Parts: sequence; structure tokens; C-alpha cells
Amino acid sequence: MWQFRLLELVISNLKRGGEDRSSGNAVGQIQKFISIIAISIVLSLKLMRWLEIRNYRQMILRVRSRREQSLKDMRNVMDGIKTMGTYQTKIDHEQLLSLRDLCKSIKVGDVSASYILHAYMEKALEATKKFNCITEFLPECQTQLLELEDKTKGLLYGIPVSIKENINCKGHDSTCGLKKFINKPVSEDCVIVQVLKKQGAIPFVKTNVPQTLFSYECSNPIYGQTVNPFNTKRTSGGSSGGEAALIAAGGSILGIGTDVGGSIRFPAAFCGICGFKPTASRLSKKGLTVNASGQRTVESSVGPLARDVDSLAYCMKALLCEEMFELDPTVPPIPFDDMVYADTKPLKIGYFESDGYWIPSPSMKRAVLETKQLLKDAGHTLISFTPPKMFYAMNEVIFQGLLADSGATFLENLKGDIIDPHLRTQVSTYSMPGIMKKLLYFFLKPFSPRVAAGFRAIGGIGSVKELWKHHIAAVTYREEYVNAWKHQNIEVLLCPSLGPALNIGYAGKLSAASSYMVIFNLLNFPAGVVPVTNVTEEDEKELMNYTGYLNDIWDKTFKKAMAGGVDLPLAVQCVALPWQDELCLRFMKEVERLVNLKKIT
Ligand SMILES: *[C@@H]1O[C@H](CO)[C@@H](O)[C@H](O)[C@H]1NC(C)=O
Ligand SMILES: *[C@@H]1O[C@H](CO)[C@@H](O)[C@H](O)[C@H]1NC(C)=O
Ligand SMILES: *[C@@H]1O[C@H](CO)[C@@H](O)[C@H](O)[C@H]1NC(C)=O
Repeated sequence: MWQFRLLELVISNLKRGGEDRSSGNAVGQIQKFISIIAISIVLSLKLMRWLEIRNYRQMILRVRSRREQSLKDMRNVMDGIKTMGTYQTKIDHEQLLSLRDLCKSIKVGDVSASYILHAYMEKALEATKKFNCITEFLPECQTQLLELEDKTKGLLYGIPVSIKENINCKGHDSTCGLKKFINKPVSEDCVIVQVLKKQGAIPFVKTNVPQTLFSYECSNPIYGQTVNPFNTKRTSGGSSGGEAALIAAGGSILGIGTDVGGSIRFPAAFCGICGFKPTASRLSKKGLTVNASGQRTVESSVGPLARDVDSLAYCMKALLCEEMFELDPTVPPIPFDDMVYADTKPLKIGYFESDGYWIPSPSMKRAVLETKQLLKDAGHTLISFTPPKMFYAMNEVIFQGLLADSGATFLENLKGDIIDPHLRTQVSTYSMPGIMKKLLYFFLKPFSPRVAAGFRAIGGIGSVKELWKHHIAAVTYREEYVNAWKHQNIEVLLCPSLGPALNIGYAGKLSAASSYMVIFNLLNFPAGVVPVTNVTEEDEKELMNYTGYLNDIWDKTFKKAMAGGVDLPLAVQCVALPWQDELCLRFMKEVERLVNLKKIT
């Protein structure tokens, strides 16, 4: 650190100054004086940093006790209701499973909105105690409940909804796990939250995220780590990790997340639920705290998470309404197409089990092949599809796009912050000087070309001219992918979803393993995950033989990250062309239907 270097310099100066004084030199006196000033400056700086960190730790403690209070308030509401005797403690989970049916039940008065909200509050509290999903209770949900009136209005009338932490809710922080956003309550609900409320939904809690959101390990220094409900030694995934864990644990029926490289799909797949990333601009992104929105190559989407596909479709239908088109005119005014979603004619389905860039774990590969067989047996046409130029796409387009500023925005967001341990690999890699990245590229290339290319890619774009070229490269790649798709004459695509959930502590070291997910943010294709099977002993045995691409450091780390996953859920990914969100959901529903049929038989 430069402070230490300065200190060394000053001390050596002092020594010399001392020698000089013994020889009675006036210059020596001045040197000594300057040295003392310099030492004082260095020490003050150190002290200031120390005080800053101490203050920050205290601030974190205050935020945490605020959260404790918030959860206590939630508890108190529940206790109040129970003593009033109007509440049955047992909720029938099966009865609550389908969002569409629940909405109907509330509308016709079979079950009260108040009962449902409180049932989910109870469940959410339980889930949070075990898996640390909730960052804040939204007490205004109580008032909203009392104000619900017109039962004919609103497709989501009376439905409690959980909201990812960075999605703005008026009067609450959207911290993204960052110090800079603590105690900065936002002034307005974001468009999506406004529309949810218009449709009668009741946002009731906010859920945990990774610090900066730029990770699929759900952990930050403020709220801590969210763990996987299936196995608490595994990650819940990220960045919508609090959402997925909460829904999987039964603490919410519908959640809203964001996805800029798999952030809805990773956690949904890891926690055995469904998640959908729509075409980027299909739903409004106005009023989200993202803080890296200058990055335009890999597009972010807002989307739903739920236990079944139909709930996702129903949520999309509710959100794609006049209110949203009015509140955010940049969103195309296309309502949900029920006809496409309900269609049952056989599909032409492309599939691949490996993208060639990251060799799939045996279990994720099996998930695709088994699903492929189910679809084939059900009368669909299955066509092998090879994603074009994945190495080029990952290194030259995606990494370079995400880190066109060589990580400067990411590092700036973390400036003066306590850095989450799971971000350390990213922070130390991004903050290397450019020359170091180039040297690493040079030396690593002969042994591990894939890792080496990663280092080169994150060196930054350089000039505006280069950035313009890069934008063209991204558009050209999208065209190539679409051409390959058209050439095979397919309607939808079946492919792996990374899985199973990684052991905690590995996601930060395996950013590149996101290739299966992030490619569809680059392409801006709608994509969703559906759980199809669980890891078997056989998969685990096969994993012991995993050598990946070249048995390089990434492959070895991946094997460790995946080990010990027996019984964890596995998903597949369903993809469609841009704006064919309804077709993508229809395909997801078909996969879900066939998997459920197989379970019964
Ligand atoms: C990050 O957020 C702050 C506060 O809202 C804003 O001033 C800043 O411009 C944002 N930076 C980026 C890169 O989006
Ligand atoms: C996976 O295991 C869970 C129980 O942990 C079970 O409910 C589910 O049905 C299994 N999935 C499949 C596809 O068999
Ligand atoms: C693992 O590799 C060994 C040696 O090549 C082979 O004998 C064994 O059958 C493999 N195991 C599995 C589960 O594929």
C-alpha cells in the first residue's frame, strides 16, 4: 500500500535527518520537520480509515437491529392475529400451490386475502429463521390489505408478493448490499411495484441479494448469507437468492427478481423452483437500483419466480397491462398472448447438452437428455443444435462487454466498503493493473487458454472507437445465432441450466461457469428454468471422473463446487426468440407437465 511506502520513505528520511543534525546541518532540521508532518499525515489517514470502518460497522449493526425490529413487527402482527382467534396455524400447502386458483378463491371469497397474507407471513418468518431470506418486512402491506376494495379489479387481487432487495419500494432502502446505499430510502415505488399494487397484489417483504448483485453467491456484509433450503451448505444462488430460497421454503407464492447473467435462473434452478427471464424490455426496468446501467452489451430483465410455470405466466399476464404501458412508455404495449400460451400443437425443439465452452456436470447433462426423451415421446420434434462460437461469445463479447470499463464501476461501487468474502476473487482480479492482466494472459495461454482468454477479456475496451466496434460485434453475434436457429428451423431451444447448487464459497471463483445462462442475456432471448430431476448417486460417481474442458483450474474448482450434491434439484433451460415470451412459457409448461406425468407413472 502506498501509505506504507510513504511511511518507509519518511522513516529513512528521519534517520538521515538525525545523522545530519549531529553534524549541525540546518537542512537536516527542515528534513526532520517535514518528516514529522508526513508521518502525522499518514497516521491521520490511517486513523480516518480506521474510524470510517468502525463507523461503518456500527452502521451495519444499526441496520441489522432495524431488520430484527422489522421481523419482530412481523411476528407481533402474527401474534396479535392468533390471540384474536381468527387464524388457523396450519395452512394447507397444496391448496396454496397454484397462483391462478388462489386468485380465484380470494375473488369469490372462499378464502380471505387477510388469511393468505398472514399465512405467508408466518411461513416467511419460519423460512427466514432457517435460510436467511428476508431483508425487510414491508409493514404498509397491512394498510394495503385494509384498503383492498373492488374485487372485480386486479388479476393479483390479494396476492402477497415478495420483492428482491434492489427493486425500489417507496420509503425503503435498496442497498444491493452496498454501504453507499444504506439509509437512502427511495422516494418512489418502481413501475413494476406500482403495477403489482394496481393489480391488487400486496408486496410484503424484501429479499436478500449478493453485494453489488454481480455474483451468484447470495451474500453481503449487511444482511449476511442466504443458504439453500435443500442443503444449508449449498448456495441459494444469486442474485435473486433470497427470493428463490423464500419461495422454495414455502414463504412466498410469487417473487419478483432481476436477471443480468442468470440472476433469476441460477437461484430458481438451485432451489428447485421455476424462474423466467423475459425479453429485456418486455417489463419495465424503471426504478431499479442496479448501478451499472451504463453496461449495454449484456441486457438485464425483470421477471417472476414461483413454484410452477403457470404462476409465472399468470404474473406476466398481470404485469403486461395498460398501467405499465402508461407508466413506462419505453415498454412495448404488447399484452400477454393467451392463445400462444395455451396452444398445444407439437413444437420443433432444438437442444444441446454442452455448449463446448463449459463442460456440463454429469447431472445437468442427464437432466437435458431425459427431458429431450420425454418431449420426443410426447410427439415433439427434437433437433440437435450447436450454439455458434461460444468461446468467441464468452471472451470477446460477454466478458469484454460486462467489463468494458475493466471493472471500474464495480470497484467504485465498493469503494470504502467492507468487501464480502465471496467477492474477493472478482475484486482482486478486476483491480489488477492492465499490464498484469496482459502478462497473465501471456503466461497462462500455453497451459490454460480458456482461463488466459478470460484475463485478457477483462482488460477493458480502451477507447470509444473500440466500444463502438464492440457494440457491432455483439449485434453481429446475435444475428449469427438467430441465423443458426433459423437454419435448423426450430421454434424453441432446450439446454442445460447450471447445476446442482454449488457448495458455498465457489460461485465467486466460477464466474465463467455462467456461460449457459449469460449467453441469453447477450442474445436477449427470453429464457426460463424448470426443475426436472434430482442428482443421483450415479451422477455423483460420474462426477468423480469429471475433467471438464482441459482439467484446468476452473474445471478442478467446478468439480469441488459440485461434489456432494445427491438429491439436490436440477433444472433445464427453455429458450425462445426475442419477444416470444409466451411461447417460451408454453414450452416451459410442457416440460413441467411431462415431468409431472412421469413422476405419477
Ligand atoms: C450509482 O448510483 C448513484 C446514486 O444513485 C448515482 O449518483 C451514480 O451515478 C450511479 N452510478 C452508475 C454508474 O450508475
Ligand atoms: C426431487 O426431490 C424432491 C424431494 O426432495 C421431490 O419432491 C421431487 O419430486 C423430486 N423431483 C423429481 C423430478 O423426482
Ligand atoms: C471412471 O473412470 C474409470 C477409469 O477410466 C472407469 O473405470 C469408471 O467406470 C468411470 N466411472 C464412471 C462412473 O463413469
